[in-house]
Amino acid sequence: MKTLIKTIVIILFTLLTYYLLEVSAHSILHKHVEGDNFAYADLEDMNKTGNVARGEELVMGAGACTGCHSIEVAGMSAPMDANMAAATYGVRPPDLSNAGIIFDPKFLANLIKNPAHALKVEHKFNAENGKEFPMVSFGGAGGDINQEVADMVAYLQSIATNKEAVSPKIAFEQACGRCHANRYASWTQLGERPTFKKEQDALQFQMNLLDYEDSLKGYLGKLPPDLSTMIRARSAHYVETFVENPESYIKGTPMPRVGLTKDSMEKVIEYLLDTGDAKRKEIKTVGIYTMLFLINFTALVIVWRKQLWKKYLWKDEE
Ligand code: HEC
Ligand code: HEC
Repeated sequence: MKTLIKTIVIILFTLLTYYLLEVSAHSILHKHVEGDNFAYADLEDMNKTGNVARGEELVMGAGACTGCHSIEVAGMSAPMDANMAAATYGVRPPDLSNAGIIFDPKFLANLIKNPAHALKVEHKFNAENGKEFPMVSFGGAGGDINQEVADMVAYLQSIATNKEAVSPKIAFEQACGRCHANRYASWTQLGERPTFKKEQDALQFQMNLLDYEDSLKGYLGKLPPDLSTMIRARSAHYVETFVENPESYIKGTPMPRVGLTKDSMEKVIEYLLDTGDAKRKEIKTVGIYTMLFLINFTALVIVWRKQLWKKYLWKDEE
């Protein structure tokens, strides 16, 4: 009787501990967020067909995009180097060559009209605290503002028509690389870390990087974490739903919603998986070979076993 009671008490306590630790660890520390399939349902729909030529005029002119951003495919270089831009805006504005495919068109349109709203950083930049988001809102160029925005989006899409050109690496660099480093891929927020012949050049690069990171810290309140192992630590589902809406996990987080299309998010995930585990693909083929070997080996053992039994046991029966 006593042992029975003891056993029951032990079982109950084990279950209770399991419930308190394991279950709440999952629901509270690791809450499950279902994404919205990159639909950006909270943003304004703008169902206008854009005019590419007019969009080009606006992007280079009244829209002022090239006043801050480079558009390398259109021959527009950055007005400032990365360090100067970070000292001015807190972060270097990304090149817009691929913006038309990397970012969702509805998100882009909303971004142009009201960046802090589209990026979900109004909790940091608003009229009450007098802080303005570094990317200015486009106030219109005298015509129908929604038409003008659609024109600019159409232009950005037209220069970025080559989908294949956006590799997983480029998607990461454009969408995340101005804020996040990736040590495993030698990626720094200033670009890929070059190999230097002279120590002075290496030190100069390191100084520029530290300056850039200081600007980032000032702008975001903290240095964004290195993403080399993040996907292994947190899972692809986490990273994907976090990027789609960082606030669904961390209230008041300084990381903006990035506004990717589902397709480019998949590219970013692929890049993070590849760099986080350089042997990822090899492991799969090694796995297949191992299975094939085991199947072969089992077949051999069966045949061999039959042979043996034939010799020693089935002799009499013959
Ligand atoms: C005054 C400078 C400035 C102007 C003008 C400007 N931008 Fe930006 N833009 C920025 C900065 C700074 C960022 C980075 C903000 C951040 O990462 O927090 C940015 C970010 C972006 C992004 C990336 C958004 C994302 O989700 O990661 C896109 C796309 C973009 N701008 C497009 C445009 C377009 C199109 C125009 C013209 C209509 C424009 N910008 C005008 C400064 C500017
Ligand atoms: C404007 C800068 C900026 C950009 C662009 C940006 N991030 Fe972040 N990210 C941050 C900051 C800041 C944090 C730290 C957030 C916090 O601790 O609240 C962060 C945190 C994260 C985290 C960790 C979340 C956690 O649970 O701690 C992941 C994962 C992440 N970012 C992925 C990405 C990916 C992937 C991209 C590109 C698609 C991206 N970020 C683009 C600034 C940025």
